Amino acid sequence: MAKPSKFAHIVYRTRRFEEMIRWYEAVFEARLQYQNPALAFLTYDDEHHRFAFGNLEVLDPAGKPSGGKADAGVDHVAYTYASLRDLADTYTRLKKLGIKPYWPIRHGPTVSLYYRDPDGNRIEFQVDSFATADEANAYMRGDAFSSNPIGVNFDPDELVEQIKKGVPEQELLARPEGPPAPIPREHGLGA
Ligand SMILES: [Fe+2]
Repeated sequence: MAKPSKFAHIVYRTRRFEEMIRWYEAVFEARLQYQNPALAFLTYDDEHHRFAFGNLEVLDPAGKPSGGKADAGVDHVAYTYASLRDLADTYTRLKKLGIKPYWPIRHGPTVSLYYRDPDGNRIEFQVDSFATADEANAYMRGDAFSSNPIGVNFDPDELVEQIKKGVPEQELLARPEGPPAPIPREHGLGA
C-alpha cells in the first residue's frame, strides 16, 4: 500500500486570528506565506505551509458561542503522498473499504482529498503540485492564489481513469481556472 511520505501541516480554526498568527510567528519563528481576512498560511522551513489559520469570525460568524457548529480547534491535519499515483491508489483502496473523501480539490499548491474519521476529525491527503519549494512559494505569493486561495473541485474517479490512460502527472497536478470552490458542509463550518 502507498504510505504518506510525510506529515505536512495542521490547520486551526480560531476567533483570535491575528493573535494566533503572531504567536506562531514568535514561537516557531514562522514566516507568513499568505494572508487574507479569512485565511493565513505560515511556514518555518521549505514546506509551503506548516500551519494555516481559518478565521471563524469570517468563516463562521454565527458560530459558537451563539449556536453554530464551528469553534476554535483543529480544522484538519495533512499528510503528503509522494506522487499522484500513490494518492489515486490510496483513493481506490479506501473506496473498496467504503471510505470516500468528502472533498476532492485541486488547491493549487496541492491536489487534495479530504476524509473524515469516525469522530469527524478531518484529514487531508495531498500531493504537491510543484516540484520545488521555490515554485510552490512563488505560487502562494502570486495572483493565481490570491484570486482563489481555496481551489477548484475535481472528480477522483476521473483522476484514476486519467492516470490509467497515462495522462502525464504534470498535467493532472495543475489547477484549472475557476472560481473558489464552496467549502462543503461536511467540513463543519457554518450553521
Ligand atoms: Fe490543508
